[in-house]
Amino acid sequence: MSSANQSNIPVIAIDGPTASGKGTVAQLVAQRLGYHYLDSGALYRLVGLASFQRGISTAVEADLIPIAQNLNVNFQGDRIFLEGQDVSDQIRQEVMGQRASEVAVHPGVRQALVARQQAFRQSPGLVADGRDMASVIFTDAQTKVFLTATAEARAERRYKQLIAKGFSANIDVLLQDLRERDARDANRSNSPLKAVEGAHHLDTTSMTIEEAVNQVLKWHQAD
Ligand code: CDP
Repeated sequence: MSSANQSNIPVIAIDGPTASGKGTVAQLVAQRLGYHYLDSGALYRLVGLASFQRGISTAVEADLIPIAQNLNVNFQGDRIFLEGQDVSDQIRQEVMGQRASEVAVHPGVRQALVARQQAFRQSPGLVADGRDMASVIFTDAQTKVFLTATAEARAERRYKQLIAKGFSANIDVLLQDLRERDARDANRSNSPLKAVEGAHHLDTTSMTIEEAVNQVLKWHQAD
């Protein structure tokens, strides 16, 4: 598919900090519109996991780049396969979220994942979830949303999400990790977490998921 054709395909970019609810909202918006869905964070988590399996430190960019370039990953519905193995639950562990955030600071790792992310832009449309969807990967997205919530609300959501998956979790530790991750994501020099000009801001602290989804759909209709 040529890039000229691709640019006609609508993209809704949903960016925001950790546990802001962007994944849930993005998936539901995609479902309602019949659009494709890109979970860009999963790619960074997969680099975190694949490097962990090979005993590679998240500090060594030169060793991480080939891993990012050659990720053998398959998205099937809501399951994610790495080298044919279902790793959907494993990559959701907090330790993989931390590793993801550590590998994501390296420009070479980010660069290695660009084309893979842009390939998700397929007809009839795409909802892309991440931190740099509007600022770097899909700068021409028709609708740009920056989703936030207070750190406390996000820690509570992440807690419930982990418990529901059968992982153990401590809310105070989660809050601290989340603040650390916010700081790393916002302060890195390459593609820092930041709302772009023209983005719709949505604070979901006291919103239901349904309300957030409806708001995004309304914006998309008007954009
Ligand atoms: O759900 P949560 O926001 O905690 O995590 P995620 O979206 O799966 O992303 C995990 C980590 O990957 C983030 O902390 C970011 O450092 C990184 N990431 C990124 O740098 N750029 C993206 N487009 C998506 C994720």
